[in-house]
Amino acid sequence: MSLTPLLNSLPKAELHLHIEGTLSPALMWELADKHQVRLPYNSEAEIAAAYQFDNLQSFLDLYYQGADVLRDEDDFYRLMWEYLRACHEQNIVHTEVMFDPQTHTERGIGFDIFMPGFLRAAQEARQEWGISCYLICSFLRHLSEQAAFETLEAAAPWYPDITAFGLDSSELGHPPEKFARVFKRVKELGFAIVAHAGEEGPPEYIWQAVELLNVDRIDHGVRCQEDPRLLALIRERQLPLTVCPLSNLKLCVIDDLAKHNILSLLDEGLLVTVNSDDPTYFGGFLNDNFSALEHALGMNEQQLQQLIVNSFKASFLPEADKQYWT
Ligand code: ADE
Ligand code: ZN
Repeated sequence: MSLTPLLNSLPKAELHLHIEGTLSPALMWELADKHQVRLPYNSEAEIAAAYQFDNLQSFLDLYYQGADVLRDEDDFYRLMWEYLRACHEQNIVHTEVMFDPQTHTERGIGFDIFMPGFLRAAQEARQEWGISCYLICSFLRHLSEQAAFETLEAAAPWYPDITAFGLDSSELGHPPEKFARVFKRVKELGFAIVAHAGEEGPPEYIWQAVELLNVDRIDHGVRCQEDPRLLALIRERQLPLTVCPLSNLKLCVIDDLAKHNILSLLDEGLLVTVNSDDPTYFGGFLNDNFSALEHALGMNEQQLQQLIVNSFKASFLPEADKQYWT
């Protein structure tokens, strides 16, 4: 029997989602027209057809190019609002959304433009649908340590609206140790910490994220299984992994979803969660990721329920809220 009715009926949390990765071809097309931005495409359909990737970098090149249509406060509002509406449709009641300030500040678009747009949409979604939305400010790891420190400083007026800081973008050649001093400061400021590690990068990068950045969660982390000592540590500490199956498939981290190790990690007792990463680029929102696991890996009802319980357990919600949802 299909798990879809159960999947739709259960309230869920999403913990690994890049807001810039929710830009639909339709909205990109509309905003390009609004701001007279020249796109290397002749139609919305051409945009969608271009989403074929060989690796993380080939995706990031299109993703940063696409973000160039986001120019004013209303664009950022629309982007967040459309994602939160998709959350409502999938019964996602809590989401922790990453945003990449440097993708915008490098184009002269500051926190005073995108933060009010994000926050207005989040506030309306809370009023309209009761959805809670936390924000995770992520540093681009292909840029310098100095640029990350400047971003941390520029974010200061918005600290009350930020739950955690993260690390994303091109992983290979940019190990977590490059940002150890930045995250030391982030910790002193009292924020939670997440970092992409072990998506394309080796287990050594996951070790660094744990030991040098003191992460509270690991984004992806699927390569931890290559190192038994690392796997044991992650299990013992119950350090959450925010896994993104369709992303891993689209970015060729795996060549077949049937080979994904998410259920094996779950069965080994790790605190694993399912997430969509950049849903409009990877062909599926959160519920599509769950359905893909059902069809490719034969995920059963008990595993589905455990993954959903984990999504709340691994969140940054207060304990009372976690207990309410689990
Ligand atoms: N930025 C957006 N999506 C990402 C991913 N999957 N890995 C690293 N950086 C990202
Ligand atoms: Zn990601």
